[in-house]
Amino acid sequence: MSPTIRPRRLRRTAAIRNVVRETRLDPAMLVLPIFVVAESGVRQEISSMPGTYQWSVDQLDALVGEADELGIGGVLLFGIPADKDAVGSSSWDPHGPVPLAIARIKELAPSLLVWADVCLCEYTTHGHCGVLAKGTVDNDATLPLLARAATAYAKAGADVIAPSDMMDARIGVIRSGLDQSDFEETLICSYSAKYASAFYGPFRDAVDSSLAEGDRRSHQMDPANLREARREVALDVAEGADMIMVKPAGPYLDVIAQVRNTTDLPVVAYQVSGEYSSLVAGAQLGWIDGDATMMESLLGIRRAGADIIISYFALRAARVIRDQQ
Ligand code: PBG
Repeated sequence: MSPTIRPRRLRRTAAIRNVVRETRLDPAMLVLPIFVVAESGVRQEISSMPGTYQWSVDQLDALVGEADELGIGGVLLFGIPADKDAVGSSSWDPHGPVPLAIARIKELAPSLLVWADVCLCEYTTHGHCGVLAKGTVDNDATLPLLARAATAYAKAGADVIAPSDMMDARIGVIRSGLDQSDFEETLICSYSAKYASAFYGPFRDAVDSSLAEGDRRSHQMDPANLREARREVALDVAEGADMIMVKPAGPYLDVIAQVRNTTDLPVVAYQVSGEYSSLVAGAQLGWIDGDATMMESLLGIRRAGADIIISYFALRAARVIRDQQ
């Protein structure tokens, strides 16, 4: 019996596979998270994230130079402040690590996009994403503080503000805070569908934001829910978000696909620390091919519908893409 329809014809040679390929990765769609500390002379590898470092502002030149040269879609900054308090006031300190890093990066590479994460968890002594009242995160008291931090980053020169706190109504409050300070052009990328994920484990080591007690399930989403993501996205679109994020990425490809069909705004997916560390660990053990699994994981996120991928692999993947061409 000889088939008349032969899908394998389209896979026979590299040239054929190349012309029918449906999904591609470009360095311009990859964004690199960077952890910035307040001290100087620091370039410290994060033990649970081999290949990823905490940097002080004075050490950023080579990293930023490479990001710029490879043409990636920007860098996403997280700060590890010298001092923490109950309300996270160092998050809006103009001399904090994030504003200083933004200014330095803009000096080094004016056209490289700078994204700034906004959340209080790296800045509070208790490690929660907002201020506490009656043993829980107080949504409404947290909102103006987030707007303050966002405005401080916009003032320092950030192109994109990325609120990751998951308080209700934060996008509208941050938008009006930015507008009132004449930052109408500053973009907001909302972490709209951010799940209470165990895959954030290594990140908490990276920024030293482990919770003294409690968890984040009163504000981050239940990993079991999909319709709820559509609701969060609709709200953030209505409040004025310019881009919508899904996080984590790999275990949530169905959410990325749904969100892609829910909004025409750019969809961003965050391949988080635990996704990165699992692949790196598997490769270090010799159980999987590091570069191949890295590229396949990113391609899958892209195929699911993400326009932009935030990944600790951004530079490494951009190098692989460049070397393939
Ligand atoms: C909150 C924030 C977190 C991550 C990004 N922003 C941690 C959390 O919500 O607990 C996780 C990123 C990662 O795991 O790579 N500021």
